[in-house]
Amino acid sequence: MKQDIKLQKLELLKADALSCVACRLYSSRTNVVFGSGSSTAKIFFIGEGPGQEEDLRGEPFVGRSGKLLTLLIEEELKVKREECYIANVVKCRPPENRNPLKDEVLSCNHFLSSQLDLVQPRVIVTLGNTATKAVLNVKDGIVKVRQKTYEFNGFKVVPTFHPAAALRTGGMLIAQMRSDFIRAKKIMNSV
Ligand code: URA
Repeated sequence: MKQDIKLQKLELLKADALSCVACRLYSSRTNVVFGSGSSTAKIFFIGEGPGQEEDLRGEPFVGRSGKLLTLLIEEELKVKREECYIANVVKCRPPENRNPLKDEVLSCNHFLSSQLDLVQPRVIVTLGNTATKAVLNVKDGIVKVRQKTYEFNGFKVVPTFHPAAALRTGGMLIAQMRSDFIRAKKIMNSV
């Protein structure tokens, strides 16, 4: 797809998301957090849903978790964050940062599918259980699922921990995330 058409379609999709009232999360949001980054990104990160900072700013991963994500992108992938695409399973903040409910994930899912269809990344990195389960439809948790590369709709998928879990738990999880990022980088740079 031509670049200008792709950008136009992403903008139209975003406009659609900004006025979405399909689930209860619209009523408590400050901003819809559609996603950000390059429309030609080779790597696409998927988080769970906006937190407080993201809700206030309308941008994904701009709080503490985002700082760690950005650091790992720069240190392990050796690219700028803006060269990646970053989005969440749900585009509006769940109250008190609770996990998004099944019906919220389902009603928001078409935005994420369309973002993936338009960006066409070489690799998707799912961050944590919610994103991994939403994309791969697996029952097992992230500890069991990670360390393997999966296929979803023709995309390669590398599941890893959520940066918030790594911040809570510390060094060990961050080291494991680094090794997942290195595997994602190989796919990202393969032809
Ligand atoms: N956690 C997420 O899953 N997504 C964000 O955008 C921020 C924190």
